[in-house]
Amino acid sequence: MTTSTTPSATDLFARALRYENRADPYPHYAELRRHPVMRMDDGSWLVSGYREIRQLLHDPRSSADRLDPQNKIPKAARSLLMQDPPLHDQLRRVVTQEFVPRVMGMRDHLGELVGRLLDAHTSDRPGQLDVVAELAYPLPVTVICELLGVPREDEALFGGLARRLTRGLDPVDTQTEEELRELDRARGELVQYLEGLIIQRRTNPGNDLLSGLMFHEGPDRVLDPIQLRVTLGLLLIAGHETTVNLIANGTLVLLRNPDVLARLRTDPDLATPLVEEVLRHDPPVQISGRSALADIDLAGTTIPQGSRIRLMLAAGNRDPHRFEDPDRFVPDRRENAHLGFGGGIHYCIGATLARAEAQIALTALARRLHAPRLVTDPPPYRENAILRGPEHLLVAFERLTPDTPPVS
Ligand code: HEM
Repeated sequence: MTTSTTPSATDLFARALRYENRADPYPHYAELRRHPVMRMDDGSWLVSGYREIRQLLHDPRSSADRLDPQNKIPKAARSLLMQDPPLHDQLRRVVTQEFVPRVMGMRDHLGELVGRLLDAHTSDRPGQLDVVAELAYPLPVTVICELLGVPREDEALFGGLARRLTRGLDPVDTQTEEELRELDRARGELVQYLEGLIIQRRTNPGNDLLSGLMFHEGPDRVLDPIQLRVTLGLLLIAGHETTVNLIANGTLVLLRNPDVLARLRTDPDLATPLVEEVLRHDPPVQISGRSALADIDLAGTTIPQGSRIRLMLAAGNRDPHRFEDPDRFVPDRRENAHLGFGGGIHYCIGATLARAEAQIALTALARRLHAPRLVTDPPPYRENAILRGPEHLLVAFERLTPDTPPVS
């Protein structure tokens, strides 16, 4: 495979990320994939082939430090997402030990939450539902706030902050000065909010995840106050800004493929492979980043030590060298080792939770919405290119029935 210094890599990347292409960046990703490893004008590297991305996700020489020149956060104050071993592994073990047991056995509760959100709409008359505002967003927000022990009355306040902060994940050169200042303000407000919450919980611990992280007992060192705050921030943002897109992207593809929607209505087991296919075909996290700790040979080229690397997860997911007919949505695709949750040591900790939320939400929509159709296709998208998804998803329906067992 030829890979080289291609001056147009910068243009191709910019085009793929341009807002006007947000509804369908995939043809642009396909252009990028023609050279799976490309150097950009600023010396950073774009990796868009499945095999190459996977190789980097599993290569200890590829550091999770994004080397973002705008990132003024000191290294010690970055979350585990941006740390390398051994600190990463210690932090991850503590988080996993506290997070996983609290998530297990949550399916019934998730079903109740989804039911409650849709019950607000139950009606025999034609109506409209904004799937983002009324289901896809509030579900994961409530779940992560409950898990962590964020008081219900703070959900709205925190939700606003999460939205403002997510924009900060996008490449700096796509943001205005004012947006960057706004980001700093939002970061300051987040720190203040989280510190308040930590102080409260220190004197008044409960069974929640925050208390668990704070008083964790085990062979690993306890999180220091800064790590506690950034871990809490990471979990809250991850809980707010990713699953929403999985549910919304899933709804969108179901409504565009009524035959698949009809299958899901009668076969709830389809939900498992179907959600995996959404994670491949239209993943909520489109891009991740790394940096090279040493020279790395990849697809016949060498990424020099010290380079920034962008991993185009969503492009890798449609690599025809890895997936048959990659642009087609195949709800029961058999072999589906997608990159939607990343891979290697940073593989998403929330994957099980996100999968369960999406499976339950999409199944409930399929069962309860009668004759649903998209009001606008494509829907309006959020500004964000990295955590990408619809801003609103208006669905018109003839009836929204009370919950009933699946038709057999
Ligand atoms: C559909 C929803 C989600 C998607 C698509 C997603 C995707 C990802 C991806 C791609 C990574 C790896 C990033 C990298 O390697 O650079 C990641 C890491 C992570 N995710 Fe998720 N995520 C989702 C939901 C969640 C939820 C609900 C939580 C927890 C509340 C969560 C917590 C984390 C954490 C803590 C990491 C860092 C793990 C590490 O660095 O070791 N995620 N996620």
